[in-house]
Amino acid sequence: MLFLPHPPTPFDLKELKAFYDSAHVAKGKTIRPLLEQYLYDWLRHEVHISGPWCAESFIAHTNEVLDAVAQSDSKLPKVLTNSRYPERAAKFFMVQCAGDFLSEASAMARNVLGNCGPHTSELFKILIDEYGYGVDKKKHSTLFEKMLKDMGMSHHAHHYWQFYTAGALSLTNYFHYVSANHSEFFRYIGALYYTEATLALTTHDQSEAFKTIFNGTVSTEYFDEHSHIDKYHGKMALERLILPMIESFGNTIIPDLIRGFEEFRLLQEIADEELYAHIKWHDELGEFRTRANSLHGKRPVDLTITEHEHELSVVHTHSNDELFWVESGELDFVTSPDLTVRLVAGEGIVIPKGMLHGTRIVSPSCTYNVTAI
Ligand SMILES: [Fe+2]
Ligand SMILES: [Fe+2]
Ligand SMILES: [Fe+2]
Repeated sequence: MLFLPHPPTPFDLKELKAFYDSAHVAKGKTIRPLLEQYLYDWLRHEVHISGPWCAESFIAHTNEVLDAVAQSDSKLPKVLTNSRYPERAAKFFMVQCAGDFLSEASAMARNVLGNCGPHTSELFKILIDEYGYGVDKKKHSTLFEKMLKDMGMSHHAHHYWQFYTAGALSLTNYFHYVSANHSEFFRYIGALYYTEATLALTTHDQSEAFKTIFNGTVSTEYFDEHSHIDKYHGKMALERLILPMIESFGNTIIPDLIRGFEEFRLLQEIADEELYAHIKWHDELGEFRTRANSLHGKRPVDLTITEHEHELSVVHTHSNDELFWVESGELDFVTSPDLTVRLVAGEGIVIPKGMLHGTRIVSPSCTYNVTAI
């Protein structure tokens, strides 16, 4: 993908050449299949596609899933509006979307070149909608940038990279994974159908939630545009892409179509739950500090670390709950772009498994320890 700096970030030709240096590209291409295998191979064991499939059973299955989404109350708007700090929760949601939406549909663009009959032309129609028909201010990523600006957030691509949850990152990476590897083209189309069809259903409530939370001061055009256009994109994906492709290529492609549809649905569910868990943990940070007091000193510590002023731990997660305790000095404990707490000697916090956090030392020296619980 092409990324050029937006003002006020200065343009630097040398930096551009270094960033896209062919040696880096070659390394990326070498490691990529290994990472993709590591990150997505589990889906093969998780999603089982059995039985003979035909166009009718494909439609019946996907309609059933999409009807259930249409009928159920979408949880996200409630989680945001019911948070103790709805604005902060909404901003954290925006961070999770930013990894994908600031270069929206760029994975799709990987699938429109080549020679595959009328199908790519139909996909191209969806792509040009996403890209605003060549009008920059109508481009979906530009609409999303506008929202970020209205919310006082950075609109620069990957500005918030440290704060992407693994689940949110897996969504955009999945699209690039199945788009860059053309053997997975039909999984891409299945996933595209799921996302276009469901976005049409969920973005209306998201728009309403943002209107409520920000009292109309934030443009909701991004969501409104999707509740309008994705009705068509969902229909186009089914009627102009999927069904004609089954007609051209036969039922043999259906398991991959279903696989993409189901895999993306599962990844989306995981990403949603991870987002809700983070919003809850941010809301309840005070309770987790209190819990640390009651656990402190009850178990031998696993690891003691001493760091100096300005040293930092890039935001990360752990696979079990952890007691984090400051022995001496002070640090900033960072959980989101909008939520940092200062912990001083004799203070700590319980970090639940999977929750993003990082630290920045703010005293000449600071010693802290961690204990798995
Ligand atoms: Fe879009
Ligand atoms: Fe769309
Ligand atoms: Fe940690």
